[in-house]
Amino acid sequence: QGELRGVVALDGPSGTGKSSVARRLAAILGARYLDTGAMYRAVTLAVLRAGVDPLDTERVISIARACRLELGTDPQHATTTLDGQDVGTEIRGADVTLAVSPVSAVREVRELLVAEQRRIIAEADGIVVEGRDIGTVVSPDADLKVYLTASAEARAQRRTRQDTAAGRVVTVDATLADVQRRDTYDSTRAVSPLRPADDAVEVDTTSLDLVGTVDALLDLVDERGLRV
Ligand code: DC
Repeated sequence: QGELRGVVALDGPSGTGKSSVARRLAAILGARYLDTGAMYRAVTLAVLRAGVDPLDTERVISIARACRLELGTDPQHATTTLDGQDVGTEIRGADVTLAVSPVSAVREVRELLVAEQRRIIAEADGIVVEGRDIGTVVSPDADLKVYLTASAEARAQRRTRQDTAAGRVVTVDATLADVQRRDTYDSTRAVSPLRPADDAVEVDTTSLDLVGTVDALLDLVDERGLRV
């Protein structure tokens, strides 16, 4: 079947199934996997641990500069390490999810993380990168850009199932409100707002499951001859 050569950029709002799709696609293609949201979440965790107000831009920037992030890019075992400690579970908690929008809106934080993302991408032969600005900012020359969408209701339902499965107590209503709050914040921020790249292929996952979405993306990968 062959392995991925090149960069697949996978952008879109949360709850579109992006992370599961990206990991599975990377595993099938024998490629690396980079979760850029995990990087913004890990910096946010460092901010909260330091007792710093996420709205205090100057202090947020110093923490982003000082903390040590390491991202494991194996799609079967993706890891996020902050100052030597595995924080993969903690960065998905409600505190981080609430505070991550203002932290990821800071230009200097983005510049720092985007530089690191580009370094990781440059080292890989084939990589699936998921985020909000991969096709527009991080990797404008990506070989395939996909923008995943889904109705807000479908996304809130998926998020609720994920949270419940991970043992977090949530309701669909509260999750829908959170999804809409973050959509508005992420797509209206001044720096790198969430939007599809001009040359991105939009895939609506409202009525597609994981396998259906991955199949649609594999077709796009093969149309472009990215498996060698
Ligand atoms: O995909 P996620 O929910 O783990 O992302 C967490 C937050 O980080 C999300 O609110 C938007 C932000 N983010 C971003 O601004 N740019 C990215 N490339 C990835 C995530």
